[in-house]
Amino acid sequence: MRVLVTRHLFPEAIEHLRQGVDVEYHDCRDGLTQQELCTAVRGQDAVICPLTDRIDASVIAAADKLRLIANVAVGYDNIDLEAASAGGVMVSNTPGVLTESTADLTFALLMATARRLGEAERFLRRGAWKFWEIDLLAGRDIHGQTLGVFGMGRIGQAVARRAQGFGMRVLYHNRSKVEVGIEEDLAATYVSMEELLERSDFVTVHVPLDDATRAVIGPAELARMRPGTILINTARGPVLDTDAVIAALESGHLGGVGLDVFDDEPAVDSRLLRFENAVLLPHIGSASIETRRQMCMLAVENVLAHARGDRPPDLVNSSALA
Ligand code: DGY
Repeated sequence: MRVLVTRHLFPEAIEHLRQGVDVEYHDCRDGLTQQELCTAVRGQDAVICPLTDRIDASVIAAADKLRLIANVAVGYDNIDLEAASAGGVMVSNTPGVLTESTADLTFALLMATARRLGEAERFLRRGAWKFWEIDLLAGRDIHGQTLGVFGMGRIGQAVARRAQGFGMRVLYHNRSKVEVGIEEDLAATYVSMEELLERSDFVTVHVPLDDATRAVIGPAELARMRPGTILINTARGPVLDTDAVIAALESGHLGGVGLDVFDDEPAVDSRLLRFENAVLLPHIGSASIETRRQMCMLAVENVLAHARGDRPPDLVNSSALA
């Protein structure tokens, strides 16, 4: 079996993969172009790729033998799932292993935005700190505030658990209510989307990107938020309507944003850079060494399962098997 790895991964994952299959490894950090991807997939039985590779219908059409795309991410909006399923190509992801690290980063971003850490550090580094002042860089409290979790999957739940430890009230909105036992454990209350927006001091987004969630936080949703609300996004950039977010920062309606994800990564809308109350990170939600290593290993495990003739454990499109 031949497996294409499109980008640099942790070496131990590549070694492990090599024990079971033939590997074509593109050990590069900037990735392949669409044209290069189309050429490289020919003759491959499986591909291991990061979320930055756009595996669209043209790449899938160019692949003559492909049976599995193992995405090194839990989100798989970079892959045309319909085209993959139609072509009998399985897609797997890396759920579970990145939940806690992503929740850690979400909380770090929430705290950094509320307490103005980016701004404070920039202030110190440019030598602007001359004296202690009673209101110097005074930010917003986190304890005692209401957190609205939009998307109560694994990561949303892990964020809610952290919020409990910080003495926050937790509201959530999700396609469906989570089990009562989980709600009780997290002391989280299910509310409508409208209520979540109207009652939260902080809103954190944890929904996958799909047709239903694209730009789901737009002008109307932002207008419903309380003045001064802090908005955090570690899910996918296009879930927010960036123009609307920028307008709400400009008007002062939003108190701040903490963004780890953007519409067209690695490009960042330059208008966002103007706001001191925007904390902006380069998609590092899951970026602890341990977690990123486990993500690589899990993608490899999915490929090795397929090589053994088993169903990949993290298959997301069982329709490809039909
Ligand atoms: C994912 O796995 O989808 C994350 O965005 C990667 O950090």
